[in-house]
Amino acid sequence: MAVSLLTKYAADFVAPHEVEAIAPQVAAAHATLHQGTGLGSGYLGWLDLPIHYDREEFARIQQAADWIQQNAQVLIVIGIGGSYLGARAAIELLRSPQYNCIKKNTPDIYYAGNSISPTHLSEILEICEGKDIAVNVISKSGTTTEPALAFRVFRDLLEKKYGKEGAKKRIFATTDKAKGTLKELSDREGYATFVIPDDVGGRYSVLTAVGLLPIAVAGADIAALMEGAAAAREAYMDFDMEKNDVDRYAAYRNILYRKGRSTELLVSYEPAFTMMNEWWKQLFGESEGKDNKGLFPASVVFSTDLHSMGQFIQEGSRVMFETVVQFKEPRKDFFIPDDPENLDGLNFLSGQNMSIVNRRAFEGTVLAHTQGGVPNLVLEVKDTHEFAVGWLIYFFEKPCGISGYLLGVNPFNQPGVESYKKNMFALLGKPGYEEMRAALEARLQK
Ligand code: PA5
Repeated sequence: MAVSLLTKYAADFVAPHEVEAIAPQVAAAHATLHQGTGLGSGYLGWLDLPIHYDREEFARIQQAADWIQQNAQVLIVIGIGGSYLGARAAIELLRSPQYNCIKKNTPDIYYAGNSISPTHLSEILEICEGKDIAVNVISKSGTTTEPALAFRVFRDLLEKKYGKEGAKKRIFATTDKAKGTLKELSDREGYATFVIPDDVGGRYSVLTAVGLLPIAVAGADIAALMEGAAAAREAYMDFDMEKNDVDRYAAYRNILYRKGRSTELLVSYEPAFTMMNEWWKQLFGESEGKDNKGLFPASVVFSTDLHSMGQFIQEGSRVMFETVVQFKEPRKDFFIPDDPENLDGLNFLSGQNMSIVNRRAFEGTVLAHTQGGVPNLVLEVKDTHEFAVGWLIYFFEKPCGISGYLLGVNPFNQPGVESYKKNMFALLGKPGYEEMRAALEARLQK
């Protein structure tokens, strides 16, 4: 097992009979997922994706990554939400949150089209000056405003820099297999295209070309990533309230939710996990947060945030529980040097591994927070290499589906995301939105 769930730090908050009581509901939700009989069952492709993926496309992804590595100094990944977070999260965890600054023989990677900030886009354009660029534009619908605007800018830049023929070799589009604006444009212009399967929603798409192409460009082993996810799929296949950690995680978080814990705080002691936090927040937030229900997914990185959020977690309103992702082996470690003067009084740590100090910080914090009334679930993860990370991705995806069914919502839609878009289009004067615009302008003037 590359990932295991420890529930002992939640024992004072969740009694064994509560787990026993919810077991039939978890069993039913688990079965609903596998049988495809629940809401949103058209989006269950991720369940078997680690073994049922297109091998021919996988080879093309690897070839495209090799080409980009050899011909570009910078890769621009254009996408938003599920079309970008997974790739960035995996790259930062597998390689480094400082990926662009570390010594490496792979291209720098910048992320565009994930906001509408003109400053952000301008800065990326400045960084690209004088460098060879490739672009991976990722959008299932092909019509999402943020990536579409960024792609306009980069397509124009590439065509001016390399000519139309040169640009087409440097643009890689990941989109729907047959329909949508991006697919039509790619076919017309002759861009290489990769597929986001119909039955895999954005937030579940990291193990498709959406995540795999940028991750491969960053030099990570995507075959090992898929192997880890496939092993997790196998391990969590059958319902088991005692042995299946996916079922146990879904059960504990739902019990805690019903007891008034409305926030789940994902905790890690690795800054490299920061973007995984963001990926996880979208996964659970978009899947559960509907019909006025759902745990609010929040995140912190310790010990950094112990110096900002630690006070609230220890003594503030008791609305949360923590899920701590604890890596057993750090990617790198070093010995703490001795200081003959011992000015900081830390010589008792001389010669000690820094990872031991980090581990002790985790242990001390878990004990303090549980004593302060915050239940803790702990996910022990073997390391930050591809196999364990692929396993971890699948570990989170499956209980997310089960949790949605436990909650009585459709875990695979996101109807609420449309509201801001309609308002924005109306306010920008998109044809067809005239009436709405007048009403919104009136509200703004009030
Ligand atoms: O999970 C989702 O469906 C969303 O986060 C989408 O991935 C996001 O809105 C981007 O959509 P698209 O890939 O169609 O551009």
